[in-house]
Amino acid sequence: MNVHDNKPAANAPAPATITVDGKQVTLPVRSGSIGPNVIDVGALYKETGNFTYDPGFTSTANCSSSITYIDGDKGELLYRGYPIDQLADNTNFLAVCYLLLHGELPNNAEFINFRKTITNHTMVHEQMTRFFTGYRRDAHPMAVMVGTVGALSSFYHDSTDINDPRQREIASHRMIAKMPTIAAMAYKYSMGHPFIYPRNDLDYTSNFLQMCFAVPCEPYVVNPILSRALDRIFILHADHEQNASTSTVRLAGSSGANPFACISAGIACLWGPAHGGANEAALNMLKEIGTVDKVPEYVKKAKDKTSGFRLMGFGHRVYKNYDPRAKVMQKTCHEVLEATGAKDDPLLKVAIELERIALQDDYFIEKKLYPNIDFYSGITLRAMGFPVEMFTVLFAVARTVGWIAQWKEMIEDPEQRIGRPRQLYIGKPRRDFPAA
Ligand code: CMC
Repeated sequence: MNVHDNKPAANAPAPATITVDGKQVTLPVRSGSIGPNVIDVGALYKETGNFTYDPGFTSTANCSSSITYIDGDKGELLYRGYPIDQLADNTNFLAVCYLLLHGELPNNAEFINFRKTITNHTMVHEQMTRFFTGYRRDAHPMAVMVGTVGALSSFYHDSTDINDPRQREIASHRMIAKMPTIAAMAYKYSMGHPFIYPRNDLDYTSNFLQMCFAVPCEPYVVNPILSRALDRIFILHADHEQNASTSTVRLAGSSGANPFACISAGIACLWGPAHGGANEAALNMLKEIGTVDKVPEYVKKAKDKTSGFRLMGFGHRVYKNYDPRAKVMQKTCHEVLEATGAKDDPLLKVAIELERIALQDDYFIEKKLYPNIDFYSGITLRAMGFPVEMFTVLFAVARTVGWIAQWKEMIEDPEQRIGRPRQLYIGKPRRDFPAA
């Protein structure tokens, strides 16, 4: 079955048959370019009166997509076909944004033009600064992000018509350009510092660093090693297939909601500790372990089901091999600690020893538990000077392009309809209101 035109392809896989209440139903099987086939159950209810049941969507593909591919067994992550480590080594975040949005890497002229467009959108409406004074100083920056990004739709009416491709494009550019500005404002507000305006002479990531760490009373020079490292961290987080926040953006967008509202919904979902918050948990765990000699004790505890303790930054729903992002993150971590004079950080020593011991341990080998991206990212971001509350915000800045690319793909996909799951009802059957 061809995914887009519903006509059977020449090499289409054999259909699946399922028997429900003695009735045999044939369901088409679709193939992607790589990865598992999918059984198209769209006609199941009509044919049998039954729904499928899959809480957590562990066996359910919700869309067809050509943006990102993960092979969890191999430990491979591809953006538009390119392996993540090659992108992290050879290009920059803004070029990756272009790749995710347009499907191909930009040539020189395309890159210059794209960079110019994005930098032209980095400022936010001046009136937005007044929003911030309404938030409590001690508000979590993710709370500020959810509110402020949602409020963008009240300022940029000219890019909320989702049926106009040009408006969709402008909204995408605005979102990628303004997210670092809003994130830096959230950070500055929490510190009681004045906001620092964007500088369009700097590259995307250097500009973000200066908006976070510069102050008006003295010059600030961006450390190119830190800027490159953060740029790479942004590349690693840019997209990750149909994860919880991306699915949230798609679901919100399926009703026709405007893109700013959809991204705000994605940020809210990312905030949860099971999604964007794990790097903070991994850092706290390393702090709790404290010294290398305590590592065996904690590995033992992680294997003991009654302890309720897990090695944070280890294991993944999809990766049953080393998370390819974790490999790049480990290298980046060493570079950042070296550049910031923190290479003797005791937490790094604990992390290296923990990884060494766990990777040799039968429990972790048998369960295919490997370090994930969050294992080294907390140490790295902390060394750059970010407080833990900002970790998930940085994730949101980077993931915005993935959300936007997936949202655009969904709007442009003729197969997509409003997302409307069904349920297995287990409540009271119909009953009459008690007579007076
Ligand atoms: N430490 C110790 N044991 C573990 C761990 C761990 N970190 N992770 C999984 N296990 C065990 C688990 O107890 C279970 O054992 P058994 O089969 O004997 O019951 C088995 O491995 C499978 O675990 P699961 O919880 O069924 O696997 P899952 O796919 O539902 O969960 C996970 C994946 C990421 C939630 C889990 O590995 C975990 O809790 N890891 C720690 C938290 C973490 O680092 N999260 C960040 C994920 S990467 C972020 C992103 O990509 O967005």
